[in-house]
Amino acid sequence: MTTDVLQIELRKAERSRIQEVDFNHLPFGKHFSDHMFVADFIDGQWQNQQIVPFDNFTINPALSALHYGQSIFEGMKAYKNEEGDVLLFNPLANFERMNESARRMCMATLPEEVFMGGLEALLRVDADWVPSTPNSSLYVRPYMFALDNYLGVAPSKTYRFCIFTCPVGAYYSNPPKLKVETEYIRSAPGGTGYAKCAGNYAASMYPTLMAQQQGYDQLIWTDAREHKYIEESGTMNIMFIIDGKLVTPATSDSILKGTTRAAIIAIANYWGMEVEERLVSIEEVISGIESGRLTEAFGAGTAVGASAYALIGYNGTDYMLPEFSPEKSFAVRVSNYLGDLRTGKIDDPFGWVQKL
Ligand SMILES: Cc1ncc(COP(=O)(O)O)c(C=O)c1O
Repeated sequence: MTTDVLQIELRKAERSRIQEVDFNHLPFGKHFSDHMFVADFIDGQWQNQQIVPFDNFTINPALSALHYGQSIFEGMKAYKNEEGDVLLFNPLANFERMNESARRMCMATLPEEVFMGGLEALLRVDADWVPSTPNSSLYVRPYMFALDNYLGVAPSKTYRFCIFTCPVGAYYSNPPKLKVETEYIRSAPGGTGYAKCAGNYAASMYPTLMAQQQGYDQLIWTDAREHKYIEESGTMNIMFIIDGKLVTPATSDSILKGTTRAAIIAIANYWGMEVEERLVSIEEVISGIESGRLTEAFGAGTAVGASAYALIGYNGTDYMLPEFSPEKSFAVRVSNYLGDLRTGKIDDPFGWVQKL
């Protein structure tokens, strides 16, 4: 990365907290690295770019983001290669999606030099926090929220952009159990489903909790009109292997365009595999499991990588996915390949991996 980071002010933490963290047992999202990057959009310009110790913000009770929900975020991961260099996996995809979310939510967009410059500078300062233990990484959370102190439903004129990071281990310890949701919806045509806005996640919590009380880990969302077609999952896009082809719901304005989804499709194409992006009905999935034509169902996302599902519950019946052999499974193979790319163990023919 070649971003000019000189305009970022740096105030370092007096004492690092890194010794307090057990890098062999990393829960997701609970340990925060020493510093954060902050920039504010004021008077029509991004300014006050700083790296400061990770700490609380002081906020006004009338903060617009809290009342009207202009709040968007991203998620990506940084890794270390064997030489100890910090590697990022396709951060431009997250930068572009962040701005797509900003446009949908009527928020200020970010110049590439603020997003990438802030990211690079923060990772340099907190490079020691990037784990080198297997299956671990530094989760990076860029986000932006409305900063006006004002009541009234109108776009804020000021915004805060922040990036902080957390060292994390594996997301699921066992293959997750998914329930097909046929009552509630996550998003609808014309809505905000394709944006990574906080409200989408707030709306998903109640139905997800209901499913968890029934013993499932996550939901499979279906289309808002008929509950007939599969859309995506909580924090994952969904993929299937049907008749040996990689089949996944085509993205639309109600589905988040996952960066992992795009990477897996590109890898499958590179491997010469047939890929179908199209409507996928629940009926096709259930009958595919029953007939044996559907051999794998898995989630694709930054947090999980490619994570094979144990079962899919639909209308009160649980359909077990076939046992797969790790040598033959596409999800395992692509997950290992992605892992090797991200940690610099193999050459990257796609140009995704960026060394700091
Ligand atoms: C709703 C939703 N779908 C899909 C994904 C997967 O996206 P990505 O692969 O970019 O992490 C995520 C995670 O960010 C998500 O929150």
